[in-house]
Amino acid sequence: MVTGIVHRDIRDQSLAVRGDDLIQWAAHEMPVLRFIRDRFEKEKPLRDLRVSACLHVTSETANLMLTLKAGGADIALCASNPLSTNDAVAAALNELYGIKTYAIRGEDNDTYYSHIASALDHIPNFTMDDGADLVTVLHQKRTEQLIEVRGGTEETTTGVIRLKAMAAQGMLSYPIIAVNDANTKHLFDNRYGTGQSTIDGIVRATNVLWAGKMFVIAGYGWCGRGLASRARGHGAEVVVTEIDPIKALEAKMDGFEVMPMSKAAPVGDIFVTVTGDLNVLDRQHFAVIKDGAVLANSGHFNSEINLKFLDELATEVREVRPMVHQYTMADGRRLQLLAEGRLVNLAAADGHPAGVMDMSFANQALSVEHMAKRHSELKNLVYEVPGEIDSEVARLKLDAMGVEIDTLTEEQARYLASWEAGT
Ligand SMILES: NC(=O)c1ccc[n+]([C@@H]2O[C@H](COP(=O)([O-])OP(=O)(O)OC[C@H]3O[C@@H](n4cnc5c(N)ncnc54)[C@H](O)[C@@H]3O)[C@@H](O)[C@H]2O)c1
Repeated sequence: MVTGIVHRDIRDQSLAVRGDDLIQWAAHEMPVLRFIRDRFEKEKPLRDLRVSACLHVTSETANLMLTLKAGGADIALCASNPLSTNDAVAAALNELYGIKTYAIRGEDNDTYYSHIASALDHIPNFTMDDGADLVTVLHQKRTEQLIEVRGGTEETTTGVIRLKAMAAQGMLSYPIIAVNDANTKHLFDNRYGTGQSTIDGIVRATNVLWAGKMFVIAGYGWCGRGLASRARGHGAEVVVTEIDPIKALEAKMDGFEVMPMSKAAPVGDIFVTVTGDLNVLDRQHFAVIKDGAVLANSGHFNSEINLKFLDELATEVREVRPMVHQYTMADGRRLQLLAEGRLVNLAAADGHPAGVMDMSFANQALSVEHMAKRHSELKNLVYEVPGEIDSEVARLKLDAMGVEIDTLTEEQARYLASWEAGT
């Protein structure tokens, strides 16, 4: 039932029914979260708790919000990126499910931060963040609220890095669980999710042919690995750039060319940054990149491609297709920037498939439940997802996929716990 009250913090409430179709579509691919939601419905482990979530507002996130709500939580949701919101999903959450949502696709920076402020006006007991912008605002500008907060979770690599830096400086005021670091999160979401959806974003924005193209990936972490394997599967010639000798060696032995960006820049056709770092594609690279080359980022922030310099070097900037800005250089070369340098998989495509977000968000739901029970035992540090939760998520996913595995016999368990037996 559409409320009829006009919401200025979503694009268009009449999109609600379409948004609900998307939410149900994703739900079908999220059996683990469904299982948790059914249990939460009965046990209400989050009864009377207020949660402020700053996540990509997608159909998968909607299913996480409905799981928390089933557990008894009172939720406010804002976007964790100005370009990743699905406006129909935001409308459905607001209008059909009574979840206060503050997110408009394409919102400017001021609106983005005003939406974070609105989510914090909810006075959370728990925060759920993707990139740590909400936690940062809370610690910098809303310190009087910190007393209400019992714990939080963080979804992505970049957020975990920021929060660990806060904890190391003694600045973190409540415990956080690093959902990103669960095996059932980054081994699958970062690798297979980012791998597939980044390619999807580039294809939707450009419709470029992959066969025969030189595809340059900066960063061979979990996301980079997935992207490299999927790009090779599409027929591209894959080049990796790295700063870590171990990751570089791994990329080489996985069969990819490895070289510094200065060498890759003049030969690459498509560039994607997935490092979580700053200015990985910079002035010296823009000076030599080929005419027509595509530049995209799939790392968390739009800081991996030096947009300021790209802008300064350009004699003309035009949007030549949706999600493609063409930067013409003084010598006539045209560099095609996708999605304004923001997460290309979420801005130009649908983000990660629901089948993989099922596990990431199962970790989120179970981590909040864990914190609700145990927060008083935790210090103001960044914690791993408890091993039992990680294993449980994998077990549930295997069950849902109909995959059976072996169990140790008693003899094997004894043997693996012993040291006496040798050659
Ligand atoms: N697009 C998405 O939906 C999505 C999903 C998950 C994570 N992320 C984000 O993607 C980024 C990477 O995540 P990850 O889990 O792969 O991290 P990771 O730490 O596993 O990998 C990052 C890699 O980048 C390398 N690197 C750092 N600076 C570099 C530079 N200047 N040049 C080349 N390589 C460099 C590091 O050595 C490391 O191997 C983070 O910002 C993360 O938050 C995005």
